[in-house]
Amino acid sequence: MRTPIMAGNWKMHKTAAEATALAAGIVEQVREVTGVEVVLCPPFTALGTVAEAVKGTTISLGAQNCHYEAQGAFTGEVSPNFLLDFGCKYVIIAHSERRQHFGEDDALINRKLKAVLGLGLVPVFCVGESLEQREKDLTFDVLRKQVLGGLAGIQVQDPSRLVVAYEPVWAIGTGKVATPQQAQEAHRYLRDLLAGLWGTETAEGVRLQYGGSVKPDNVRELMACPDIDGALVGGASLDAGSFARIVRFQ
Ligand code: 13P
Repeated sequence: MRTPIMAGNWKMHKTAAEATALAAGIVEQVREVTGVEVVLCPPFTALGTVAEAVKGTTISLGAQNCHYEAQGAFTGEVSPNFLLDFGCKYVIIAHSERRQHFGEDDALINRKLKAVLGLGLVPVFCVGESLEQREKDLTFDVLRKQVLGGLAGIQVQDPSRLVVAYEPVWAIGTGKVATPQQAQEAHRYLRDLLAGLWGTETAEGVRLQYGGSVKPDNVRELMACPDIDGALVGGASLDAGSFARIVRFQ
């Protein structure tokens, strides 16, 4: 019922030329894949050329961040409208690197989510606990605060308008993937939180991605979990071959 969604978050990697070559390689290698939605999230500077590279394919384009205002005196920021202009369907919001290095808090994230949802972009809303929080047994408390804070005052009826990504901070770029049990438990908790907000039917339709050291050799067991509907992939999405293997997780 929920179409799997595999997204590559290229972070601050790849020049426009390199990104175009990577996108072309991915297009080539996932051409035959059906029943999985593939999303590429290059840096802003490569959105234009990657959009060209995926034109005419089923691959969707996403961005990694945006501002909450549509326009204005915000030097250096990128409007969600500009993302639509490039043909983006998705935008990652609240990635832990933005929470950690750029001071994004739940109130700011809430403004961004409201803005992008209002414009018809689909947010990939990231949540996840740090190692310290997990060790103190605070994982569920953290997820609850992030979800309720980020989604405060937001009504989602159509579950296809939102993706939530569970990315435990301790698993990002560390090679330390969450066990399928740890990931499933967090995903189930997230789905229950969404059900509390918008009802079971909507919550059952929202796709939940796992992110954090996803690789071709661990994606299958993660995807076998009932509440894991896809992956948000960093490092392993920077190589067409490894990302294609993740996309073909079966
Ligand atoms: P890695 O796959 O490199 O651990 O990164 C995960 C991530 O942060 C995706 O958004």
